[in-house]
Amino acid sequence: ATSNRVRLVEVGPRDGLQNEKKAIPLTTKIELIEKLAKVGLTDIEAGSFVAPKWVPQMAESNEVLEYLLKYPPNSLNPIAYSFLAPNAKGLQNALSILRNHPNTYRTLDQQTSSPYEPDEASPAKSAPGAESTSGKPLIELSVFAAATESFTQKNLNCSIAKSLENFKEVIQGGKAHGLRVRAYISVVLGCPFEGYDVDPKKVAEIACDLMEMGADEIALGDTTGMGTAPRTSELLRAMHAAGIRNEDMAMHFHDTYGQALVNTAVSLEHGIRSFDSSVGGLGGCPYSPGATGNVSTENMAYFMESLGMDTGVDLEALCDIGDWITKEIGKPNGSSVGKAILGK
Ligand code: HMG
Ligand code: MG
Repeated sequence: ATSNRVRLVEVGPRDGLQNEKKAIPLTTKIELIEKLAKVGLTDIEAGSFVAPKWVPQMAESNEVLEYLLKYPPNSLNPIAYSFLAPNAKGLQNALSILRNHPNTYRTLDQQTSSPYEPDEASPAKSAPGAESTSGKPLIELSVFAAATESFTQKNLNCSIAKSLENFKEVIQGGKAHGLRVRAYISVVLGCPFEGYDVDPKKVAEIACDLMEMGADEIALGDTTGMGTAPRTSELLRAMHAAGIRNEDMAMHFHDTYGQALVNTAVSLEHGIRSFDSSVGGLGGCPYSPGATGNVSTENMAYFMESLGMDTGVDLEALCDIGDWITKEIGKPNGSSVGKAILGK
């Protein structure tokens, strides 16, 4: 049966905030996550267990995780909160917090439904009179590979081969503790250092390695926003040829060149049903000079609604959050849909 359901992965609290120069108070980060939890999202990327000297804005991710375990935000759906963890140190930091808070989160085997389908008992759409639940959150880890050697060196300080070795440890360690593990591949449609010269076959090969290690999902990152419709198509054909299934992929488009929704349309035609986005269009990667934020969640939700797809999210509530957080961090609202709906 074909489903109209699409899964939106909100990456604003991590990808959106990681690059901000001015320190954002922990309370603001948590307030952002709490607000996002209430609008019908099922997946929120909440932080990053990486070196604080490289990404100082994510240094408080342990506090964020602790807070989510102690005080799970009210939400309509059970929510999966994910955290980047590129190496053993990141994995250990995450696990030590989880160990201190046993029984406060669900493991993969306790997940009641696939991430594509919201629980019957707690519909994503806010049915009239529906009660909020604060069920146990699902905690996920994410590793992040890249399709070129030069980007991998800059972002991870090692070669692709070495990064995959590190990820194997994180993936297997995470899975051994019942955690779902997402695996990003960055610069899949263009690299800040190698330009458009990114081989889709190389991307597919890395994806196969990560799936073999036990990753639950591959997120294809157009880090630079250089992706175009034909190249998105070419990439997805290469992924399919390598045997990677649509249900095991998510697309992560940055909107630097304004092509994110075009590439989203192409991905939908290829059967992809999971998409990353960032409220208010926040974001950028510290290792991708000039790259702007992810496609905004408001634009993504509006686009999906226009196609009759079901995202489960409350668009107007999202617009308010995008407006609030961009003001809070002193940036212009990066969502054209958000601004239009709010009349700004
Ligand atoms: P390393 O190989 O250990 O070497 O880390 P290093 O010189 O880069 O760092 C060394 C210091 O970091 C040491 O501390 C380590 O202990 C510490 P010191 O002795 O100097 O005090 N360290 C850590 N601390 C906390 N947590 C850790 C950790 N690992 C080492 N996990 C590493 C290599 C990659 C881990 C490090 O360089 C790093 O964390 N870099 C930041 C990478 C990053 O966060 N990039 C942005 C996210 S990726 C992204 O945005 C793309 C994405 O959105 C998809 C897309 O758009 O395409 C996901
Ligand atoms: Mg990104």
